Amino acid sequence: MSADPIKIVEVGPRDGLQNEKSIIPTETKIAFVDALSSSGLTEIEVSSFVSPKWVPQLADALEVFRGITRVPGVVYSALVPNEVGLDRAIEAKVDKISVFTAASETFSQKNVGASIAETIKRFRPVLQRSPVPVRGYVSTAFYCPYEGKIEPNAVVPVIEDLLEIGCVEISIGDTIGKAIPEEVTRLLEVTLDICPVEKIAMHFHDTFGNAIANSSASERMGVRVFDSSAGGIGGCPFAPGATGNVSTSALVRLFEGRTGISLEKLEEAAKIVRPFLTR
Ligand code: HMG
Ligand code: MG
Repeated sequence: MSADPIKIVEVGPRDGLQNEKSIIPTETKIAFVDALSSSGLTEIEVSSFVSPKWVPQLADALEVFRGITRVPGVVYSALVPNEVGLDRAIEAKVDKISVFTAASETFSQKNVGASIAETIKRFRPVLQRSPVPVRGYVSTAFYCPYEGKIEPNAVVPVIEDLLEIGCVEISIGDTIGKAIPEEVTRLLEVTLDICPVEKIAMHFHDTFGNAIANSSASERMGVRVFDSSAGGIGGCPFAPGATGNVSTSALVRLFEGRTGISLEKLEEAAKIVRPFLTR
């Protein structure tokens, strides 16, 4: 393995908590983010400015942003589905936002009540007005909980659309954690024809235990940005059967000496939320 630095985007406070049914106290979320901020992470996805009716757990996104202690050099980001979310994110002084769509029409409908084309239409004014850089997520890039296998030719046009509207980074999501390394390599081969590898992040869930092998396969293709959650918590409420993200500690071990993240500090952070988790 080469020794290039690896960047880990910690998504635990957002992806990790969004699927928890019992509402976690806002102070606990703030303490979790603050503990993560001292671990050496350089980017933390703090929450989502989505509809509180759809994701009640993250209804306190603004309060969490107001409560955290920002460490210089750490980017604090959030999910934004539309212009209403953008206005809330601006009020919270986020450093970066993430718009999110999918490669499967059924998942898109279940997740945001819109077709893929409609999501891109919603994002255009968000990108035009955003005062901060925008990441674009493509969910169900390998498998969909409703449609099954998704072929690369359904994923690539979505990535092209997200780049065209101005996303500076594309996070490719194995939402239900079903991909295998060969599928990851194949998707990256075609993706890298239309997108520089520097703009790619990989977002693996670990339902079938393949996330580490998939991360290695991505690294061999040149990817240097990976999403993960402290303690491996997580899952999407609109993707039945999906379990947590790949654990941040597992990635820190895989990419030893390349992430700048402390395993001890990560464990301290995970301990803060663990007593509140039911999943
Ligand atoms: P909708 O109900 O169709 O929205 O939701 P609407 O435009 O019809 O508006 C209805 C009401 O919601 C209005 O209020 C709006 O103002 C309000 P009313 O007039 O009735 O009082 N509203 C909002 N309020 C707060 N914040 C907002 C917002 N937007 C509208 N942003 C919407 C459409 C997209 C908002 C909804 O479907 C939604 O919030 N979905 C979020 C789903 C979600 O968060 N999924 C999980 C994240 S994605 C994921 O986990 C995958 C990922 O990890 C990658 C991977 O693993 O693959 C990223
Ligand atoms: Mg996810």
